[in-house]
Amino acid sequence: MKKWIIGNWKMNGSLNANLPLLRALAENANDACCAGVTVPYPYLMQAQAFLNNSKALWGAQDVSRFDGNGAYTGEVSAAMLADTGCRIVLVGHSERRRYFGEDNTALAQKISHVRAAGLTPIVCVGETLAERQSGTHQAVIEAQLNVFKNMEAPEVVIAYEPVWAIGTGEVADEDQITAMHSFIYAKLLSILPKAANITILYGGSVNSDNAATILKLEHVDGALVGGASLNADSFAKLIRMGSEA
Ligand code: PGA
Repeated sequence: MKKWIIGNWKMNGSLNANLPLLRALAENANDACCAGVTVPYPYLMQAQAFLNNSKALWGAQDVSRFDGNGAYTGEVSAAMLADTGCRIVLVGHSERRRYFGEDNTALAQKISHVRAAGLTPIVCVGETLAERQSGTHQAVIEAQLNVFKNMEAPEVVIAYEPVWAIGTGEVADEDQITAMHSFIYAKLLSILPKAANITILYGGSVNSDNAATILKLEHVDGALVGGASLNADSFAKLIRMGSEA
């Protein structure tokens, strides 16, 4: 199975600063890997212009919980995202859960609108340090995965991102990653018995020094990369590692 290497720019970028990053992605994306980037909304069309004829995926970091058009000032619908030609959308990143109080009710709506628009949601899950230390991490992830209950989702892409590993330089260790990815895989199969295609990415301080080891672990189908996706050389390196893994 091809590895996924997805950059998450978060609230970073400018028309100028994006140029080398998009160029590196367009030049390095290839058939051996699913490489892509999620960008702030104003840069979706810039990503389209650069990546449309490349092998790269691009997409948004969030989407409205509301469907269709309407009086929802400031919101961007899944159909609007699809209109830009984008293919992927992050849903439920821990920063959205934390700063915007996103819960499973809102996330289920987002996932379903994204899927209805023909796009692939990358659903993020992860526990905080306190939850890990108190031993409730599996229960926390299970509750987050319950967003898929009663959903018809033959294809699921998850990003497991321990909150304590995001942007901290403290990557989860191999045993922690393997144990949680196997747990997620098994849970998804019990929630979605018809899920034929389950992809589980790891995220949290992934860089070109640690990616080769992480990408080899069982049930690790790729990486969601924040900080290291903001440097053209290191992101290009990660795509090459993903293509060879
Ligand atoms: P990081 O961010 O790679 O900077 O830790 C990952 C993410 O939040 O998606």
